[in-house]
Amino acid sequence: MSSGAPPPQPSPARGEGVGIQIAPSILTADFGRLAEQIRAADAGGADVWHLDIMDGHFVPPLSFGKEVIAAVRAVTSKPIEAHLMVAHPGEQFADMAKAGAGRLILHFEAVASDVEIARNHIAQARALGCEVGIAINPETPAEALFPLLDVIDEVVVMLIRPGWGGQEANLDHLAKVRAIRAAAPGIVIEVDGGVKAHNARTCVEAGATLLVAGSAVFNPTQTPQEAIAALRASLA
Ligand code: DX5
Ligand code: ZN
Repeated sequence: MSSGAPPPQPSPARGEGVGIQIAPSILTADFGRLAEQIRAADAGGADVWHLDIMDGHFVPPLSFGKEVIAAVRAVTSKPIEAHLMVAHPGEQFADMAKAGAGRLILHFEAVASDVEIARNHIAQARALGCEVGIAINPETPAEALFPLLDVIDEVVVMLIRPGWGGQEANLDHLAKVRAIRAAAPGIVIEVDGGVKAHNARTCVEAGATLLVAGSAVFNPTQTPQEAIAALRASLA
């Protein structure tokens, strides 16, 4: 058994000066060929791995946990962020960090939409050496996060109801991206849910710098390389 702090992990870059980054989600990948699919997306220019953890409580489905994070960590040298769609995110932080996540994303709704409880979680994640993101569901206004923008690395604006890949983005939520960008010019803003080549540019124009791409990258009609190339081309 090892003990003490987990080893340092590569960190997803901050917003300023790094350009637009693409973060594949593996929810619609072929888990029987996961290593191969990750290598293909890495070769195609994936910047960050966005791994969706679901507990069957905060969202209805179950997805996967630390074992899959560790398996992805073994295949890629890119940063990994863990999107914790779980009711008790703090209970997962240490396992996620140890498995290889360099950034931990908790949902504001999972900490009772309470700024002080969120601050405690942020401190807990930082003590593990991790960067911190906070995600907001469609019903949560951008302004709810304003007191926290100076103590987090990333905001994740959900463009869908979380829990399932392959849904259509509601671009009305980009108003929140604009509001957060105006309040925090240097922060990473990620959009999650339904981001595709036909709407990625609109997301970036609103102020997003990190694009989660699940079914846009892992789908039956394109290789991951082709899919990432199409996303990049849509931004050019
Ligand atoms: C949904 C997840 C998303 C999603 C992305 O709850 O947080 O990351 O799987 O997949 P697409 O891009 O297919 O919506
Ligand atoms: Zn996600």
